[in-house]
This record gives sequence, structure tokens and C-alpha cells, in this order.
Amino acid sequence: MSTTALTGIGLLVTHDPELGELPDAALVIDDDRIVWVGPAAEVPDADESSDLDGRCVIPGFVDSHTHLVFAGDRAAEFEARMSGQPYTAGGIRSTVAATRAATDEDLTSHAAGLIAEMLASGTTTTEIKTGYGLSTVDEERSAHVASRLSGDVTFLGAHVVPPEYADRTDDYVALVAGPMLEACAPYCRWIDVFCDRDAFDVDQAKTILTAGAARGLGLRVHANQLANGPAVQLAVELAAASADHCTHLSDADIDALAGSPTVATLLPGAEFSTRSPYPDARRLLDAGATVALATDCNPGSSYTSNMAFCIALAVREMGMTPAEALWAATTGGARALRRDDVGVIMVGARADLVALQAPSPVHLAYRPGVPLIAATWKGGQPITAIGG
Ligand code: NIG
Ligand code: FE
Repeated sequence: MSTTALTGIGLLVTHDPELGELPDAALVIDDDRIVWVGPAAEVPDADESSDLDGRCVIPGFVDSHTHLVFAGDRAAEFEARMSGQPYTAGGIRSTVAATRAATDEDLTSHAAGLIAEMLASGTTTTEIKTGYGLSTVDEERSAHVASRLSGDVTFLGAHVVPPEYADRTDDYVALVAGPMLEACAPYCRWIDVFCDRDAFDVDQAKTILTAGAARGLGLRVHANQLANGPAVQLAVELAAASADHCTHLSDADIDALAGSPTVATLLPGAEFSTRSPYPDARRLLDAGATVALATDCNPGSSYTSNMAFCIALAVREMGMTPAEALWAATTGGARALRRDDVGVIMVGARADLVALQAPSPVHLAYRPGVPLIAATWKGGQPITAIGG
């Protein structure tokens, strides 16, 4: 294997507590891993070298919550919302109809297109949920499609109750916790339930999550997006890796998250796109909770794939400092996926890196909407040529 040195790094933001931020830095990549990090003046010889001309380098973004396997879009629903219609969980069913009608090839090429969009905007790790199939066959093929694109696939058969199970929710819960889980589990690392108003109640969520855990899957919960309820407490009780959304939190929810390893994953693209109040990240951080930021990329509530946009929203609207938001979008996302090989720049970590067309990551929020991603490396491979 040949080694590559990245030199001329004006500021290296590592998120390694020992290394911190290094001015005038360099690093060396061997295959898919980082093998050396330090001052530019001390960089060891490598087979190849690339001068970053003073750019800032950060870990690649870790987007720990997306719904990329779907067909169609819901631009008309968004347009209606911007004229005053409320967001409801029921909109999911129109994407279910489009997804069921799509071929595996269509679903794969559409999701791969979104992954390419994400890579170009600095996202090097992407979790992908199922949840627009909602039959055993359509959830299984969604999970299969997702598994071709990510190692972090989440079974979300419990997204909403599909129309053919209207008034038979208990039967649908049994299907999800039984045959559908069996069919999807081989492709998945995680299981998730939308536990909220107009979705699944806490008992149904517990049944499904417990079945998933027994099948060896890690737990995640769509919790407290639409209303305050027991979902965050359930996530903590079941030691879920992540409680996601966390828009409506009681003091007891904050205390529970702060006293647990469950990460609070905030998804400001959803509040932006549903014109809803943003979650209060400051309250969570001050209490000591671990916070992640993710896009929630989906055709209904948040059709953005852009983590820098989420960072800007978190800083402007949710009380996060630029440094906290960057940490949440990288290391925080890795914690939410219980991974220590991504979201950090240190020897042994994956060489998943972003060079910014900026002197510091503060510019991600300071210059919102500006394409500042100069280059991305995933597993040591350059994705976008500098200046390209
Ligand atoms: O995370 N909240 C549930 N699921 C998605 C929305 C999906 C949709 O509206 O299609 C979310 O926001
Ligand atoms: Fe979601």
C-alpha cells in the first residue's frame, strides 16, 4: 500500500482530546487509515504528497439519521405547509405508495445519488433507515438496497401503520416484531420506531424494540418530534444508542438523557422544513447530554442532505456554539452510531476527512449556504479534487 501525506493544513480540527486543534499541521494516510498526525514541520516521508495550501481540515461529517430509500418527492406538501398547513405523520403514506411502485434499481440509483450529493458536501458516514415499504417484501428490499450503500442500516418497519392495516394496529405491530423483522434483520445493524403522536404508542414501541434487541439489533427511537410523550424515557430505559428529534422535552427527559449513554440526535432540517420550533440544544448540553446533529434526509419533513446547513441552523437557532455544532455533526454522530473509527482525526481512525475552503470551521455557520467543501476523502480516497 502507498502512503499519502496531506501537508499545508492551516488548522487541523481533530476532536481527539489529546491532539485538540493543531495549526500548521500535516497527516499521513495509509490505505483507508490515518497513520500519522502532527506538526507540518515533522511530517514523515510518504509515497505521495498533497499540499492543502492553508485550508482547514475537519473529520468527515457523520450523518447518523437519514431515510434515503424512497421514490417520489413531496414538494407540493412542502409548498402547502409554507402556506400554513401543519405537518402530520400521515404524509409518510404517500411516499410509501411511490416506494412500493418503484423497482429495486430505481430505489438504488436514487439513494446512491443522494449519497453522492452527501459525499460532495462532506458527509463520509451515512446511516440509512427503511420505513417507506411497510410490507415484509418492501421493507426487505429497502433494507437490501440500503445495505449496498451503508454499514449502518436501520429497520424502521414501525414508521407508520400502512393503509391495509388501518384499525388493525396490533396486527401490524405483530408483523413488524415478527416476520418483517426476521426478513430485514440480516441487512440491518439497528432498529427504530416512530413513537409519537399519530404514530406508535410506547407499549407498541417497546414490543418492537425488544424484539429487535433479541434479534441482535441496536436500538434507536424517533422520539418527541411532534409532541411531548414517553418516547425519550423509553429510549433511555432500553439503553438505545440514540433518541432522535427531541424537539419537545420535559425537564425529566433532559435529566434522563444527561444521565445515560443515549445520544440526543437533533434534526434541525425537520423543524426548518415543517416550520416548527427548534429543539433547545443549549438545555441538553448544559445538562451534560451528548448531542448529535443529523439531516433526517427524507422527502417529507427534511429534504436536505447537507450537514453544513444543519450546523448553521444549530448555531443560529438552537443555542450551539460553532465548535459544539461541528462536534455534534462529526464525533456526536459517531457516538450515536456507537462507532469510534469515524468522526475523529487520530492515528488508527478511518481517513474520512474534509478540507474547507475556509480558515476555520466557524465559517460553516458564518457563511451559510456557501459551498465551502474543497475536498473530501472517504477511507483515504479523494472524492472531490481540490478546486474541482
Ligand atoms: O424523521 N418522523 C418520522 N419520520 C420522518 C418523516 C418522514 C416523512 O415525513 O416522510 C422524520 O421526520
Ligand atoms: Fe427521521
